[in-house]
Amino acid sequence: SLHVGVLTGGGDCPGLNAVIRGVTKSLLRTGARVTGIERGFMGMIERRSRLLDARAVSGIINEGGTILGTHNFANPFAWKGEDVSPRVMEYVKELGLDALVAIGGDGTMSIANRFTPLGLPVVGVPKTIDNDLMYTDRTFGFDSAVSIVAEALARLETTARSHGRVMVLETMGRYAGWIALEGGLAGGADIILIPERPYDLQEVIRVCKEREKKQGYTIICIAEGARPVDGGMTVQAHLENSPDPIRLGGVANVLREQLKEHLESEVRSTQLGHVQRGGTPTPYDRVLATRFGWYAAKMVANGEFGRMVALKGDECTSVPIEEVANRTRNVPDDSTLLDVATSLGISLGQPA
Ligand code: F6P
Repeated sequence: SLHVGVLTGGGDCPGLNAVIRGVTKSLLRTGARVTGIERGFMGMIERRSRLLDARAVSGIINEGGTILGTHNFANPFAWKGEDVSPRVMEYVKELGLDALVAIGGDGTMSIANRFTPLGLPVVGVPKTIDNDLMYTDRTFGFDSAVSIVAEALARLETTARSHGRVMVLETMGRYAGWIALEGGLAGGADIILIPERPYDLQEVIRVCKEREKKQGYTIICIAEGARPVDGGMTVQAHLENSPDPIRLGGVANVLREQLKEHLESEVRSTQLGHVQRGGTPTPYDRVLATRFGWYAAKMVANGEFGRMVALKGDECTSVPIEEVANRTRNVPDDSTLLDVATSLGISLGQPA
């Protein structure tokens, strides 16, 4: 019977445990054995793993994070300047692993895929709250992040209305605006600023001033990757110039200071940060993650290796891992969500 390793790599994300549970339970029922590798590829390097039986994955579907732990920077092919993959493969042979299910983002996928030619075939499961993966319509974790943004906006509205203030909320999302856009729509934001649409500061000021007169307050939802038209680097320029992720964040504070100079109202900013990644996944994310786990188990059973689970429409499918790596799916120019926003009078920070 098959012996399958499972690991989670990169940042934590609501739904990881639901995937671990889904893939493990499905595999166990085919008679396979399952071993959880601890803290991503770190566990491969440090030889830390444990057998996952039905009991080990029971009662975890609603828990945030990952029971296996994770690691951002453990790369066996470049570990402290050394390629330790031969040693890792010895460990794999000792454990007797026939295949690996790697749950993670870009980084995890490209490392995992290098084990396939070494004799450890890989199935990938995509993970990101940012929803910015090519070839998959939705990623688990996104719905949870959006629901937290929506709740935060509703809570900020209280202060905005009571004080007649401008409240700026900064969301995660890296170089993509999905979380800010859907969270902003769900939470009733008046202005939504995303990286795909560099904003015009003068226009944001104009909208706030108009609202000062009419509604008396303004809620702004800004993605951490958003930039003004005439300042900072555009998303594309950054992606082209640097393969390393930059530290994002802080844009809400910058916008607050810029707005303060031009408005009568007081301006306050909130950076939501990792709150968006923590806690229990929404039911939607639990179901999607469970389906991804189930599908990954099917792929292992069918020998569909070097591929990653994806969601097309409402069906699970798979795509070659190389095709997904290092590509970001941004909010497209013709997205109906953008139309919906502007039709409702929500400003995207662009002059009409
Ligand atoms: O990709 C997920 C994400 O949460 C992004 O939205 C954010 O920019 C980044 O990870 C934060 O990474 P870290 O947890 O390493 O600070």
